[in-house]
Amino acid sequence: MNLKGIVLAGGTGSRLMPLTKVTNKHLLPVGEKPMIFYPIEKLTSVGVEEILIVTGVEHMGDVVNLLGSGKDFGCRFTYKVQDEAGGIAQALALAENFANSEPLCVILGDNIFQSSLTGCAQKYLKQGNGARLLLKEVSDPTRFGVAETEGNKVLRIVEKPAEPKSNRAVTGVYFYDASVFDIIRTLKPSARGEFEITDVNNAYIAKNQLECDVMQGWWTDAGTHESLKRANRLVTQEPPE
Ligand code: G1P
Repeated sequence: MNLKGIVLAGGTGSRLMPLTKVTNKHLLPVGEKPMIFYPIEKLTSVGVEEILIVTGVEHMGDVVNLLGSGKDFGCRFTYKVQDEAGGIAQALALAENFANSEPLCVILGDNIFQSSLTGCAQKYLKQGNGARLLLKEVSDPTRFGVAETEGNKVLRIVEKPAEPKSNRAVTGVYFYDASVFDIIRTLKPSARGEFEITDVNNAYIAKNQLECDVMQGWWTDAGTHESLKRANRLVTQEPPE
């Protein structure tokens, strides 16, 4: 498949202290594997052969020791260091040379889900340009980017709204074209001092170039103690496809 993969595995993991005091969140166990195996396997199972891993400087050595060249996963890894935890969009900016103007599937390293990416990857390649997101209905939308939708159209995304207009969370699975890097260059840091992926997605909405699917099967992040426990339970009860 003519799609490159990016797994964003930086951040401080502060919501998982003290589990993350001496290691990276994405190396913690979920079921019988390190968390980061799940997004990687989602990408390789749709035929993605080139995957960029972005992580912080502190644990890059451990990440490379764990993952190696990609031979064991049937892909090739490239690694990039994010010097400080400045947000998802800042981490993604590091991927510009790797992307080489080709279509991208970006997955946040703590997002674990049941269904295969095949259907939406095919739809994105057919779409040809712009961005495509996966949404999922959740019971606790204030923890996520929340999409205001009209039918299949996303009107606006609000990051961690106090009063969510829907229960459709934006999951950490994004398809982007090369214009994502021009968009990131226009961003300003948010109130929490980060370059937000939600601002990137709203910029695609402004260009009328954002499409979405609702994810089938279960989905969870694993960035808090509660959601990490949920992720462990879900992968054990109903293993991902
Ligand atoms: C990030 C995004 C948010 C998205 C979530 C999915 O939040 O900012 O829009 O819904 O990932 O896991 P974070 O977990 O970095 O706070």
